[in-house]
Amino acid sequence: MPELRAIQIDESIKGRIAIVTGGAKGIGAGISRVLSSAGAHLVVADRDEPAAEKLAASLRATGAGATAISCDVGDTAAVTQAVKRIERVLGAVDLLVNNAGIGDFVSFPDISRERWDRMLNVHLTGAYNCCHAVMPDMLRRRFGRVVNVSSVAGKRGDFIGNAHYTAAKAGMIGLTKSLAAWAAPYDVRVNAIAPGIVDTELTREMSKPHQATTISRIPLGRFAQPDEIASVVLFLLSDASSYVIGETINVNGGSYLD
Ligand SMILES: NC(=O)c1ccc[n+]([C@@H]2O[C@H](COP(=O)([O-])OP(=O)(O)OC[C@H]3O[C@@H](n4cnc5c(N)ncnc54)[C@H](O)[C@@H]3O)[C@@H](O)[C@H]2O)c1
Repeated sequence: MPELRAIQIDESIKGRIAIVTGGAKGIGAGISRVLSSAGAHLVVADRDEPAAEKLAASLRATGAGATAISCDVGDTAAVTQAVKRIERVLGAVDLLVNNAGIGDFVSFPDISRERWDRMLNVHLTGAYNCCHAVMPDMLRRRFGRVVNVSSVAGKRGDFIGNAHYTAAKAGMIGLTKSLAAWAAPYDVRVNAIAPGIVDTELTREMSKPHQATTISRIPLGRFAQPDEIASVVLFLLSDASSYVIGETINVNGGSYLD
């Protein structure tokens, strides 16, 4: 247990090996930057290799340690291989953020089986793949922190009926609770966040009327910026949240309260 004093968040992140999936752009890039400035060695794991390399290079330019890795989180063999490579080159993984994701703003009748499978594969199977590759070693070492990026949609559902996204995000909340209860006795903590709408490429795919309706339902009256999500992830990965287990924290400007 950390000492009962003002906990230095950065002290508990400094020198840690951190994987952020989908870490090259949007919320993931915000998380990568915040963790890097707190002193972690960042592994930017993204299927967009040039973007991952560009972000890692920008972190290295600040003097931080950062590595880019090209990986599709939905590909079990590729994730296993990537984690083995990281462990061989950098050492054991301390922090994992399952953030990689895609948008697909369609109504239920338009969700073909192919779209359904793709959505569940990236979000839910992706989180499973990364946890499965990383967590057994965390339990052996009796140290690890995992944050799953779910969504307000996973708690509340979505107004336009894109049920594949909401089902995948709700699944990530269940995955978080189960893994959290299993891992907590080994000082491995698993939590999640449920962001509302964040200003990224993913939400720029929403139609203008859909964006306007969504903003009208947010008491804060605006979308979030990636760094406002990243700071909550930093809290969950740090010792400042040492007694928080299996929680899914809303970061939604008041758009959904539970
Ligand atoms: N933007 C929002 O409003 C919002 C709200 C709630 C939750 N989220 C969640 O936050 C996460 C990040 O979203 P964002 O808005 O930053 O999206 P984004 O599109 O801006 O960035 C997503 C990143 O994930 C990467 N990626 C996509 N599929 C991948 C795969 N199979 N393997 C590896 N990398 C992959 C992309 O290349 C990209 O770098 C997603 O899980 C999303 O569902 C977003």
